[in-house]
Amino acid sequence: MPDSVVITGTGLFTPPHSISNDELVASLTVSATRFNEEHAAEIEAGTVEARAIPDAEFIEKASGIRSRYVMEKEGVLDPDRLRPHLPTRSEDELSLMAEMALPAIDEALAQAGRRRDEVDCIIVGASNIQRAYPAVAIEIQHTIGAGGWAYDMNVACSSATFSMQAAVDALRNGSARCALVVNPEITSAHNNFALRDHHFIFGDACTVAVLERADDAVAAEQWEVLRTRLETKFSNSIRNDFGFLNPCEDDARDPFELVFRQRGQQVFKEVVPLVVRHIEEQLGALSLDAAAIRRFWLHQANLKMNQLIAKQVLGRLPDETEAPVILDRYANTSSAGSVIAFHLHRGGLEAGHLGVLCSFGAGYSIGSLVVRKR
Ligand code: COA
Repeated sequence: MPDSVVITGTGLFTPPHSISNDELVASLTVSATRFNEEHAAEIEAGTVEARAIPDAEFIEKASGIRSRYVMEKEGVLDPDRLRPHLPTRSEDELSLMAEMALPAIDEALAQAGRRRDEVDCIIVGASNIQRAYPAVAIEIQHTIGAGGWAYDMNVACSSATFSMQAAVDALRNGSARCALVVNPEITSAHNNFALRDHHFIFGDACTVAVLERADDAVAAEQWEVLRTRLETKFSNSIRNDFGFLNPCEDDARDPFELVFRQRGQQVFKEVVPLVVRHIEEQLGALSLDAAAIRRFWLHQANLKMNQLIAKQVLGRLPDETEAPVILDRYANTSSAGSVIAFHLHRGGLEAGHLGVLCSFGAGYSIGSLVVRKR
């Protein structure tokens, strides 16, 4: 097909520090116990709510998460701080998100058989971009000596598939020839490590995918994008109100409201059927049966959620190769999760084999790509 688009390489940056559930629980236990002691009288009087004590066993059972990677560990684990130390950088220094992207870009370009200066489109998609402008994507474009154009976009956890769709469209309409989709996630900076319902959920990572027109591609391994599909449906169940209006708002808000928050049970119940229907319709449009799909690289937020989605799509529980899990080690890396699964777990598939890469999250937003190994 003349307008056929292929994924020709992927790259992954894994931050240097890993935090186990036990380490996280130990620091929050100290912090919550201290808080409760310091506010004992108000808690007794009912004017302050006691902070709950976390439990490592609960975390693994409820989510499947055992550890997560972070850009900085000491600050997160310091009971008096519970957030990473990420020092301010001068305008002349590379931004943290661009820095995370570079090794993943080089890995992905090496797989694609492309040089940095052959790139002519960079889309950075993430659930939090570290500044409003200039775009991190344009900083990356400048740093690697790429041509063309670049921009940032945010569709929360679905940013990877939404930015891949944008890249596919640009390649098909001729406005780009070699596109990089970059998903840098510093979730440790938007997470609320002081609340036990949230402290375990997230991890940091950056993924990159190279997309090109099939007739240009030179990579040894290529994945043809057979179909893309995006969907959104408004919900307040996952929300982050951090934004430029915050300093102008006259009613003081609980700072916890200005970072990530969610109603986890509700998200679980509402998102699973949306994703199942989304994948079924996506496959239906290609006249494909779920049994034809060798691998599901799903968004990595909750193990039970992914098992349920795969079970409903397949009509049976998936085995571990059919719906690979990376959240046990990486936790929820937001938009990077499904791409990490694709990056680490696409071995063993042969030419003609089909897979589905699917991300979902706040918005609500759901995106998927059906891919075929060439
Ligand atoms: N340690 C101990 N107890 C904890 C805890 C922790 N770290 N976190 C929560 N709990 C408690 C809760 O306070 C609650 O106590 P209660 O029953 O006394 O109120 C109980 O455990 C159950 O909490 P709940 O939130 O209902 O647990 P859950 O089984 O739904 O698991 C999530 C929580 C977040 C793991 C799960 O809901 C989830 O993953 N949902 C989907 C989230 C998602 O995909 N989000 C997308 C983001 S992009």
